Amino acid sequence: MAQAHATEAPLLRVRDLDVGYRGPFGPVPAVRGVSFDVAPGEILGLVGESGSGKSSVCTALMGLLPDGATRAGGIEFQGEDLAAMRERDLRRVRGRRLALVPQQPMTSLAPTTPVLRQLRWYLGDRLDDVEVRETLTGIGLGPILDRPRDLPGTFSGGQLQRVVIAIAALAHEPALLLADEPTTTLDATVQAQVLRLLLTLRDKLGLAMVYVSHDLAVISTICDRVGVMYGGRLVETAPVRELFAAPRHPYTRALIAAMPATTPADRPLRAVEGSAEGANLLSGCPFAPRCPHVLDVCRERMPAAARHGASDVRCHWVDREAGR
Ligand SMILES: Nc1ncnc2c1ncn2[C@@H]1O[C@H](COP(=O)(O)OP(=O)(O)OP(=O)(O)O)[C@@H](O)[C@H]1O
Ligand SMILES: [Mg+2]
Repeated sequence: MAQAHATEAPLLRVRDLDVGYRGPFGPVPAVRGVSFDVAPGEILGLVGESGSGKSSVCTALMGLLPDGATRAGGIEFQGEDLAAMRERDLRRVRGRRLALVPQQPMTSLAPTTPVLRQLRWYLGDRLDDVEVRETLTGIGLGPILDRPRDLPGTFSGGQLQRVVIAIAALAHEPALLLADEPTTTLDATVQAQVLRLLLTLRDKLGLAMVYVSHDLAVISTICDRVGVMYGGRLVETAPVRELFAAPRHPYTRALIAAMPATTPADRPLRAVEGSAEGANLLSGCPFAPRCPHVLDVCRERMPAAARHGASDVRCHWVDREAGR
């Protein structure tokens, strides 16, 4: 899949993205110098352990960071500079051409309004289209259509999650969907249904996606390319097959080596001894304190991304092993 997209102009081009929050003892860097592209129709996975900055990337792209947070870097979407856009203009992009399925989807549904009425808020008369109804039924939302008076509390978490995805994807048929851990809270069967739904939407609507997850098994089934985050940095980006067949960054290697066939999807991602606590504050490579291959230079500065095979990697050790 990734190869098919490689020649197209990117839909999204992110360059040197920084996000910082206000902390009790000063600014807290959450995303540092992150650069990536997403091609039309492509699904880019973002994987990394808790606190690595995945949600911050999504909220920064949407222009929805909380008050007091800072953002720097370039965000070009469909040829427009989102980073420089005024809030008024951004509102025309957000939710329409660029949509987010947030990490806690239930919070985006009103608890005291029937779910079907909420769907109608967003889809309007299109909810009566035969094709739209078929799509909704096809993704298991028949019960929502059949029970027009029922409130969110009477449906399962999986059904509501699919409603939120359907709203994000169908209300305005965006070009890019940011899906932040959309299946983490769901059991395996429902998770598979949601993944099928996302792939169907991609195929039907040509929707591109940034798909955030800490679950490598999910990432491997849905993504064309994968970005691995650690301590606010994107340490490796590679086509999905390359990432699993030839992981290069020591953190990626550890993640893949520790990937058991049967890890419950809701177990926190922790592949290596030690903790990522404070990694986002280090001036060198954030993985240096846990890295089995650490060199002196790793503690001093973060290397630039270098191409190794089909992967873009930021690692002094990988560069050295390749004789660079
Ligand atoms: N609103 C906020 N105010 C202050 N710090 C924040 C805020 N949101 C996130 N952070 C901090 O920024 C860093 C990145 O958080 P983020 O939520 O982006 O990580 P994540 O990769 O999405 O984690 P998870 O897998 O747990 O969802 C963390 O250190 C987190 O504590
Ligand atoms: Mg998150």
